[in-house]
Amino acid sequence: MKPETGNLNKEASKTDQSKTKNRKSKRVYPAKLEGSVSVPGDKSISQRVAMLASLADGTSKVTGYLMGEDAKSTLSAMEQMGAKAEFKDDALYITGVAGKLQQPAEPLNMGNSGTGTRLLAGIVAGAGVEASMIGDDSLSSRPMGRIRHPLEQMGASIGLTGKKGTLPMMIMGGNLKGIGYLLPMASAQVKSCVLLAGLFAEGKTTVVEPRPTRDHTEKLFQALDIPIEINGLEISVQGTGKDGVHFQARDFTVPGDFSSAAFWIVAVAARPGAELVIENVGLNPRRTALLDVMKRMGADIEVTVTEAKGDPIGNIRVRGAQLQGTVIEGDEIPNLIDEIPIICVAGALAEGQTEVRDAAELRVKESDRIAEMVKNLKLFGVQVEEKEDGMVVTGPNRLVTPDAVIDSHGDHRIAMSAAILNSFATGPITIDQVDCVDTSYPEFWQHLEQLGGKTN
Ligand code: S3P
Repeated sequence: MKPETGNLNKEASKTDQSKTKNRKSKRVYPAKLEGSVSVPGDKSISQRVAMLASLADGTSKVTGYLMGEDAKSTLSAMEQMGAKAEFKDDALYITGVAGKLQQPAEPLNMGNSGTGTRLLAGIVAGAGVEASMIGDDSLSSRPMGRIRHPLEQMGASIGLTGKKGTLPMMIMGGNLKGIGYLLPMASAQVKSCVLLAGLFAEGKTTVVEPRPTRDHTEKLFQALDIPIEINGLEISVQGTGKDGVHFQARDFTVPGDFSSAAFWIVAVAARPGAELVIENVGLNPRRTALLDVMKRMGADIEVTVTEAKGDPIGNIRVRGAQLQGTVIEGDEIPNLIDEIPIICVAGALAEGQTEVRDAAELRVKESDRIAEMVKNLKLFGVQVEEKEDGMVVTGPNRLVTPDAVIDSHGDHRIAMSAAILNSFATGPITIDQVDCVDTSYPEFWQHLEQLGGKTN
């Protein structure tokens, strides 16, 4: 039976109209950024914790949960399916449903969150609740066929009523069977979707990745004593099938988001004489390839690990220098996928060529990040050539603030990269649609000022 998706497009467009009314812009001035800052909780980990704590048996205390829009959308979706969430004394308490999700009465509005949508689709399909998912304009243009294929192989029925295999999505699952799945692209979201569905399935589910991607789902399974086998790029989970999913709640501490820290790392690394300390940042090796790139480009970076148990957490000290160009490609790409827009800013200031290859996935992020970054860099007078799977930036460039408004196109990392780009330029710039910054880093503008920036 094909899932019914009749009224979902109408629901989704209501969401977008209300977002348009709130469209905000920001004026950002050039500034030398430096000092010290502590970034908010990791977006990928917060959302995974929300989902797993909501499935657990008992109450989990979560410290450091990201209060960004994506993490909030995921948490409310879990509440719609029966989990209880309460903020008390700076911590989030999540009481789980002990493996038994309730049917949500309304569509799950995932806002801007690709991670929330794709991972939760795996859980919903596995748990056998019927649910539909909608999102904002940006999320509604992102490919969901990549999760439909494996979930349908497992036995779920996934309806995608968007024009090109996109949201709104209707999910009907239950009684899934385990599969072996070779991921067609390096995507932690697709990997996690299949593993989460596999947790509920009959038999074993194995995914094989083409390149190593962030492993937060696997790490959280281990922390919750959910049996998982990892052999290089092959990851298997034993499904519980008819016995149902059962694991005990535990407490979690979410570290600062390395991807948010990345903006300040580059802002300081590319400015000779500037200095910065970022505290309490998650240093999972599958997330920190930007540090290797910055060091290769000539930045002076020192990492002090303050917590070595599990994923390392620590402080990063950066001293700015005249950077040199480098090539970023291959296995390095998934481990800095979200940092590429800001790496391109470093490339604009570096001597020689900075080349990004093998990064076509950037075209299906919150916006087409290759096209948006190339357009913005050109506006600032940067010599840059667009490629199908990346770009070549030739520098160093003297950045001149254009007489134009920069449109984020609803992409938080494009908006924040534009703010950092302009910090090296000649005058104030207006960045339009900055609300999206709240998805991952609501304190961004406040932190920009704390580090010496000026906005209004
Ligand atoms: C994420 C994985 C990445 C990343 C996204 C968060 C995750 O996406 O770009 O911001 O939390 O698993 P893909 O896995 O689709 O590349």
